[in-house]
Amino acid sequence: MKFTFVTLFPNLIEGYFQDSILKRAIDKDLLKINYLNPREFSNNKHSKVDDTAVGGGAGMLMNTQPLFDSLDLLKTEDENTHIVFLTPVAKPFRQNDAKRLAKKTHIAFVSGRYEGIDERVIERYADEVFSIGDYILTGGELASLVLCDAVSRNVQGVLGNSDSLNVESFESVLLEAPSFSKPKIYRGNEVPKEYLKGNHSKIRTLKIALSECKTKFFRPEQLLKHKTKENL
Ligand code: ADE
Repeated sequence: MKFTFVTLFPNLIEGYFQDSILKRAIDKDLLKINYLNPREFSNNKHSKVDDTAVGGGAGMLMNTQPLFDSLDLLKTEDENTHIVFLTPVAKPFRQNDAKRLAKKTHIAFVSGRYEGIDERVIERYADEVFSIGDYILTGGELASLVLCDAVSRNVQGVLGNSDSLNVESFESVLLEAPSFSKPKIYRGNEVPKEYLKGNHSKIRTLKIALSECKTKFFRPEQLLKHKTKENL
């Protein structure tokens, strides 16, 4: 699976792939990371990539020409490139999107900077547009890394243990039950006794109850969904 980051600041992104799971996946040729900097496509003699908004408004926008030309190149090189824009003005990214996007062969993430991107670029090239939450970041780079990470771990072979893909929070409506590592008692804090006894059916029942508690506390609206599903 190939990812292309379309960004004015590739340095912000590169470090993330230099360690741990995604580095291993790149070393195994499961993932390939590519960068495209719109500044290199600018026709402006000072390589300018921003401009004021037509009709007024605060701040600068990423302007059309460098983005049109870089995205044209991407599409010419690989017409199957799935182009995703990151902006706070979009649908929220969810786990089912991560699973769905993991089936693509090439995803390009376009990160906005300044006050945003000329809307014509989004209209012309976006296959999808996502926000990662109801807050404003200084740019889309972090958001594109969030999507890339969440998608990558759903690509076959990226996670060592495929079991860990299935039982997690958001695969079901409930949040995941708490987990514990060794030692069984640490500074007087014990792992729940049921976890220690090895009776898998009892452990499962307890885990469901604990999942419900966590969900009720952190995401009460999700628990409501769970209960509605149970009663269908
Ligand atoms: N760019 C700035 N804020 C963002 C957000 N919340 N999600 C995606 N892209 C963004």
